[in-house]
Amino acid sequence: MLCYTTKNGDAFCGDSTKLIQELEDNSIDLCITSPPFALLHPKEYGNETQYNYVSWLCDFVKLLLPKLKERGSLVLDIGSAYNPKEPTYSIYQFRLLVKLVDDFGLKLCQPFYWYNPSKLPTPTTYVNRMKIRAKDSIDTVWWLSKSARPHADCTQVLKPYSKKFKKQLKHPEKRRKEDIHVPSGHIIHADTWKNNGGSLPSNLLRIANTNSRGQYILACKRAKVNPHPCRMPEELVSFFVKYLTYEGDTVLDIFAGSNTVGEVCEGMNRRWKAFELSREYVAASAFRFISDIDNARACYEEIMASEGFVDISVY
Ligand SMILES: C[S@@+](CC[C@H](N)C(=O)[O-])C[C@H]1O[C@@H](n2cnc3c(N)ncnc32)[C@H](O)[C@@H]1O
Repeated sequence: MLCYTTKNGDAFCGDSTKLIQELEDNSIDLCITSPPFALLHPKEYGNETQYNYVSWLCDFVKLLLPKLKERGSLVLDIGSAYNPKEPTYSIYQFRLLVKLVDDFGLKLCQPFYWYNPSKLPTPTTYVNRMKIRAKDSIDTVWWLSKSARPHADCTQVLKPYSKKFKKQLKHPEKRRKEDIHVPSGHIIHADTWKNNGGSLPSNLLRIANTNSRGQYILACKRAKVNPHPCRMPEELVSFFVKYLTYEGDTVLDIFAGSNTVGEVCEGMNRRWKAFELSREYVAASAFRFISDIDNARACYEEIMASEGFVDISVY
């Protein structure tokens, strides 16, 4: 059910296995999503166990594939989990990856790793108390696609140059004019030293998930509503949206939670569609788009009480 709309997007409340089926075939340029992980200690919105996880998630992917354009991408942020009652890792996110590639024919364009330095040290038993495991600070982010050459442009996600390299750029006369052969056998080409506008991104994304000052959080406080417990950082989403889509493209999140994807796309002129099962989360996600956070409580209550569409532009 359509709950609210903005200039660029539509937020729906309902089960994604049903909502995906209503999408047009070949209409989605990027689906970026963070499904509930197979955690041992479930979040308030519930989690599949590690044992059912792969087939559970594959049911969504099966429905999604015809909706994805041939040059579209699927980006899945999947956190890690421990096995029950012992300090060993579950390999569920790797099992999922193998299944998506082997059985669904998806291509793994590249695995990304989101390093979150502010992640809390869990599980407390093995990390804090027994001190036998290191802090778990990485989420795997599988970038998959239907074809081997989905749209992708690294020049959209260049990183600022280091101080040292900026200094070198200021003195072109001191710059190396010839290729360098390094001991590993690689060649560093001479044009590496010219100004390309920034350095190339790596597949290790260092992003602290600590945004406590955004409109969503402030409005949740004002409206006395608990924020979503497991939001993706805007920076992670904007990296893939810039990298893998053009302006005007359509981006989908099938486990939208607080609708981080919608907010990022709204600001980057991409069309977005957000699907989320919980009406509470959809209602609070509207806070990202209202003009006055003093109206957050009224907006939340109207969405919670309504059976259908709510015009949030009045808030
Ligand atoms: C990890 S959270 C996503 C958080 C989101 N990325 C954000 O930034 O706020 C996963 C979400 O999936 C939702 N969910 C679980 N099963 C679903 C389903 N069948 N259809 C739609 N949403 C579902 C949960 O309610 C939860 O909010």
